[in-house]
Formats: sequence, C-alpha cells, structure tokens
Amino acid sequence: MDFKVAKIKVGFIGCGGIANSKHFPGMAQEDNIEMAAFCDLIPERAEKAAEEYGAPGAKVYTDYHELLADPEIFAVHVLTPNVAHCQITCDALYAGKHVLCEKPMAATKEDAKKMLEARDATGKMLTIGYQYRHFPVNATAKKVIDDGWLGDIYYGEATLLRRRGVPTWGVFIDKEKQGGGPLIDIGTHALDLTLWMMNNYDVDYVVGTSFEKLGRLLDPEHQGQNDYMGNPDPWKNESYDVEDLAVGMIKMKNGAVINLRASWAVNMAEDAGANGQATVNLCGTKGGLDTIDGVVRLNHVVANQTAITMVGKKIPPFIPGFSAGKAPRSKEADIWAAALAGTGELFVTADQAYVVTRILDGIYESSRTGKPVYFD
Ligand SMILES: NC(=O)c1ccc[n+]([C@@H]2O[C@H](COP(=O)([O-])OP(=O)(O)OC[C@H]3O[C@@H](n4cnc5c(N)ncnc54)[C@H](O)[C@@H]3O)[C@@H](O)[C@H]2O)c1
Repeated sequence: MDFKVAKIKVGFIGCGGIANSKHFPGMAQEDNIEMAAFCDLIPERAEKAAEEYGAPGAKVYTDYHELLADPEIFAVHVLTPNVAHCQITCDALYAGKHVLCEKPMAATKEDAKKMLEARDATGKMLTIGYQYRHFPVNATAKKVIDDGWLGDIYYGEATLLRRRGVPTWGVFIDKEKQGGGPLIDIGTHALDLTLWMMNNYDVDYVVGTSFEKLGRLLDPEHQGQNDYMGNPDPWKNESYDVEDLAVGMIKMKNGAVINLRASWAVNMAEDAGANGQATVNLCGTKGGLDTIDGVVRLNHVVANQTAITMVGKKIPPFIPGFSAGKAPRSKEADIWAAALAGTGELFVTADQAYVVTRILDGIYESSRTGKPVYFD
C-alpha cells in the first residue's frame, strides 16, 4: 500500500521583499511543508507567490483574517512592515496558529509584550527571523565563545554602520510603518547577535541617541553612493522621516557594557560592518573576538604573548536583493520546519527577541527624553 504522509500547511502574510528572498525559497525546500496560502494587500503579489511557490490549490487572500480562519493552516509567517507585526501575530496565535514573525519582533516594547502574552495564553510557538545567527561566521563565533576562549565577556560592540546604504524599496524610511530607521532595521541584527553570543539578556539600563541628519539633508545628486545596496533609486529626502544614525549604550546587570551603533548614512570614511552585514566585537577576560572583517578573528594570549587566530572562512560580500543569504535562510527554514513537525526546538526564542526590542525601544526613548531607561 502507498501511504502518503500529510504535509504541514503553512500560510504567508506579506509577499514582498523578505518573503521572496528568504521565506519562499527557504520553505520551498522543506519536504514536510505545503505552502498553502498567500496573503498580501497587493493582490498581484500574493497571486505571483502562489503561482511560483504554492502547492496545487493554494489559496490567495488580501485580508489576513480570512487566511487565519482556515482551520487547515497550521502555521503562518508574518512578513509585513514592522508596525503590523504585533496585531497580525497576536491574531494568528489566538486563531491557533504557530508563528514565525520577521525581525524586529515589534515596533515597540508594548507590542512585543503583547505578542509574548499571546504566545503564553495560547501555548503556540512564536519565533523571530534573526537569520544572521546562521551566517557561518556568526555560528563559528558562538562556538568559539561557548568553547570558553573568551572567558567572562565584559565589553561588546554591536555594529552596522553604512556610510551610504538607505534601502529605498519597501517602506523602510516611513516611521509610521516601520517604527524607526537603521536602529530597528539593521541594528536589531547586530544586537541580537551580541546578546546571543554573550548569552546575557539581563539588562540594567540603556542610554542612547538617534540622529535625523543626512536622510533629509543630502542633495539627491549625492545619493549615488547608495549604489552598493543595489537600490534602483535614491531615497526621497522629503519623505525620509526616520533616523539615519543611532548609538546606544547598554549596561547589563552583571556590569558588562554593550555599545550599539547603526546607520544608513553617516559621514564616516569606511563602513563598519562586514561587507554591509552586522558585526560583533567582544572582549573577555581570557580573550576577545571580532567579526569585523567577515571572519572570526580571535585575539588571545599564547606562550605569554598576544596572538591573533583567524577561525573559519570569510563570509561572501553583501548580495543585493539577497540579504538573507542561502545558507542562513535554509537553516532558519530547516529549524522551523522541524519545530512544526515536533522533531526539533525553536532556535530564536521570542523571549530573546523581546529583550532586543525592549533595548531598541529604550534607546529611542532615551533619545527623546535625554535620560537613561532602567529595566525592572
Ligand atoms: N531578516 C532580515 O534580514 C530582513 C530583511 C528585510 C526585511 N525584513 C523584515 O521583513 C518585514 C517586511 O519587509 P520587506 O522588506 O519584505 O517589506 P516589503 O514592503 O517589501 O513587503 C511587505 C509586504 O507586506 C504587505 N502587507 C503590508 N501590510 C499587510 C497586511 N496587513 N496584510 C497583508 N499584507 C500586508 C505589503 O503589501 C508588502 O507586499 C519587515 O518587518 C522587515 O524588517 C527582514
């Protein structure tokens, strides 16, 4: 007899940039997953996704509530602009679906808290799309740390500074839809990596400032330097309403300090970030490491002398339109598909992502008030 094992039906809410570069190709290679439903406010996007990736009979929606009403859908991916993450994720959890939501978890700490509460109230799984953890350089750094090469980590730098790298597709420069600029968009990756590598989520207070300088000021003629993002157009100065640079200091309860810096436009000769990607620089009592050059550079003491050891291979340069990278997106999809099948654990927990969002929210608040923001 020929037995067919039923596949797990998954729905996708938001069929834009990250859906097409990460989630669709990632989930398409999972044998136990059926890509069963696609929703976007722009119907052509959902239709195109269903044609390219959908199982036979895949459904297409413009109203996500209708997708959530289908009892056969077991899990959904929330792939909309940041401000919509909370409402859609909570609705999905309360509709009985497991959720993979894109990063950042939410635009504000209050929204992120609601998402945690919805997860706890429903007992459904919730994870966040921090695929940078799966870049080989970052996975290697984590292994080096877990193997004890750094000792007690008491200082860290989480960095992604782009001299000119404003994303002009989507709604990235629209505060109402995204909640912020480079801090919430790319600083979030650098911070997630740093907390995860330090394995320290116990924050005392944060203080920081966000700057809205060059986004509006720069002459459009000047913006050609934005090229390396693969942007088709310069950004529109008059509609740019998020920060272009943000810096923050995070003091942990054990005394450790993290400096976080993120920019899309800053007058600095060189980008700080491995080929346009988030980097960490960590200092411990036994040694330190950084990923500044796209490879793990371990600094330690050998035979009573300072030494530097390069560990692993260098990551490839930033590929426009493919920011998720093939290996990270596959790994994220593998972990999620296994968790849905009940054969694996979540890797990025919502509790970890909540701390990231609380810190980002704290930096924006500190910037507004001029005061540190204490955690309880
Ligand atoms: N993990 C990463 O590295 C990474 C990279 C890029 C973007 N992202 C995140 O992914 C999310 C989406 O970003 P993007 O670049 O794909 O944006 P995008 O604008 O390209 O796509 C978002 C899509 O969501 C649709 N949408 C908006 N509201 C909706 C709703 N209520 N119901 C259904 N569809 C809706 C829009 O029409 C659009 O097609 C953001 O949260 C962003 O931070 C993550």
